[in-house]
Amino acid sequence: MYKIYPKTLFLGQKIQYLPSCQSTNDEASALIVQTDPAEGTLVITDNQTAGRGQRGNQWEAQSGQNLTFSLILKPSFLTATEQFWLNMAISLGIYDTLQPLVGNSLRIKWPNDIYVGDQKLGGILIENTLHGYGIAWSIVGIGLNVNQTEFGYQTATSLQLQAPLPNTYDLPGLLSRLCETLEQRYLQLRSGNRDTLKINYLQILYRFQEEHGFESEGHFFRGIIIGVDDTGRLAIADDGKVRYFGFKEVSFVWDV
Ligand code: BTN
Repeated sequence: MYKIYPKTLFLGQKIQYLPSCQSTNDEASALIVQTDPAEGTLVITDNQTAGRGQRGNQWEAQSGQNLTFSLILKPSFLTATEQFWLNMAISLGIYDTLQPLVGNSLRIKWPNDIYVGDQKLGGILIENTLHGYGIAWSIVGIGLNVNQTEFGYQTATSLQLQAPLPNTYDLPGLLSRLCETLEQRYLQLRSGNRDTLKINYLQILYRFQEEHGFESEGHFFRGIIIGVDDTGRLAIADDGKVRYFGFKEVSFVWDV
């Protein structure tokens, strides 16, 4: 069960808890179709059996060890081309909760993976329903590795591996804090304070202003991330020229 009492106006004030489900994003989508859920409604499960990630990947999480949940938002103040502002606000909301626990090695890997060093601590899958030029609904799916300590991939990590607690992390307590920092960043976006959001996002962006390898359309190149444009494209300086890449158009190459 998830009984939480976040100090928020709306985010996490309504919770739908499911002991098990395929994907909380799918459950949130069904809620939107069947009811008219209040903004900030949260769908959470202990055991997600077919979690979805970005680029068609799966999201795997051991039952009862982690946070797998989806938030329902109605960012009608954003147009369809402004979707990335929500990605930035959500990434920062997660960062604000985790940074005091993990420390300064915490980063956001573009577009919105949560990283510690070169390992992934969490991921975000935002699915928007558009209405005309605007966004009617956003389903913000968040997966955070919390108490799990064994993974099938060396590139995965968890809070318990990075900042161990003797009795492991209290999942409802962590969720409650996340609701608070996510709402603060969402309200910051809603109030139009976009410059600060962008500055804060770039301050914690993985490999920002460092030279690294990338791959695009089968070609390797070395470049320097210099920013993100307002539609969310990653700007990389390559041999004196700035190239812009959308979500699926560039991959990070791991340094050896
Ligand atoms: C990624 O890094 O690829 C994004 C992972 C997002 C996983 C979360 S877990 C809760 C929500 N439900 C899903 O099916 N996916 C998201």
